[in-house]
Amino acid sequence: MSTTQRIGRARARANIALAKYWGKADVERNLPAVPSISMTLDPLTTETSVEPRADLLRDELILNGTPAAAVEVARATQLLDRVRAEAGVHWRARIESQNHFPTASGLASSASGFAALAAAARCAAGLPFDAAATSALARRSSASAARSVYGGYVELPAGLPGDDALAALPLAPVEHWGLCIVVAVTAEGRKAVGSTDGMTHTKLTSPYYDAWVEAAPALAAEVRAGILARDLGQVGRAMEQSTLAMHACALAAAPGLIYFQPATLAAFARVRALRSERRAEVYATMDAGPHVKALCHAADATAVSQALSEVPGVLRTILAGPGPGVELV
Ligand code: DP6
Repeated sequence: MSTTQRIGRARARANIALAKYWGKADVERNLPAVPSISMTLDPLTTETSVEPRADLLRDELILNGTPAAAVEVARATQLLDRVRAEAGVHWRARIESQNHFPTASGLASSASGFAALAAAARCAAGLPFDAAATSALARRSSASAARSVYGGYVELPAGLPGDDALAALPLAPVEHWGLCIVVAVTAEGRKAVGSTDGMTHTKLTSPYYDAWVEAAPALAAEVRAGILARDLGQVGRAMEQSTLAMHACALAAAPGLIYFQPATLAAFARVRALRSERRAEVYATMDAGPHVKALCHAADATAVSQALSEVPGVLRTILAGPGPGVELV
């Protein structure tokens, strides 16, 4: 190993989309067809190290202490190949990645994982820290990962085909607004179709796909305005419409994609009941899985968590406030 090579280490956090990304404008470059807006979550972190190694013929990936499957190594190698090409280096690397998510949180780690890998790989290659370049690199592997590069509230614009520099943008910092997301982890059903396959299938077969792509920008604009004005009602109403429109589009695919479990709808109904009974100002969103994420003021988080824990089929809840962006460690 030459002196210009070092072990890159980075920590990144998961994020939840308040305005959803679903569908690609350019599959090859992984450019989203719609703008999305997220909150980066404080307690859900991934730590990744990239160690350039002269003795390796191919990259190695250890995920949570266990050698990763070939398909996961291939995705990491694709990201490293882009970094190696930019930096003009040829080493292979040993990657170690550890998720510090609450036990069996039921949440995906690809956003925090690729954000941490992008930052650690650029550091290992001797490239200076550059948030936009890190975000664009992470986006290429998984578009939601572009958002985890920034803390607080973050937007990822829709991409125009061919625009490979597309990166997320910070919308408002952690200190702007102390909202809380209460994740209601629901009973595990059969494994859901992953986001990438789900959105491809939706685009190919759902008669509502074009309507979704047309409607999504206005919903993202509402979420954006609501965040800037610290108006939970404005954010929440647009957030619920965004998730329901995304799921309606997926439900109408052929065959339809049903990410909900009975407990998903029960938890969603409980959120609406809390609101109509004026017990808490709270709104809900769901991703490509059965869990419900409830957005509320930090002061209401304990009451919301308690109410969701009582819903049949909810296994546990996790509370998360806004957290920082990617950090080199
Ligand atoms: C429903 O970012 O996982 O969570 O770019 O194909 O890797 P790829 O998809 P991914 O999709 C996330 C979809 C979502 C909504 C969101 O996070 O915006």
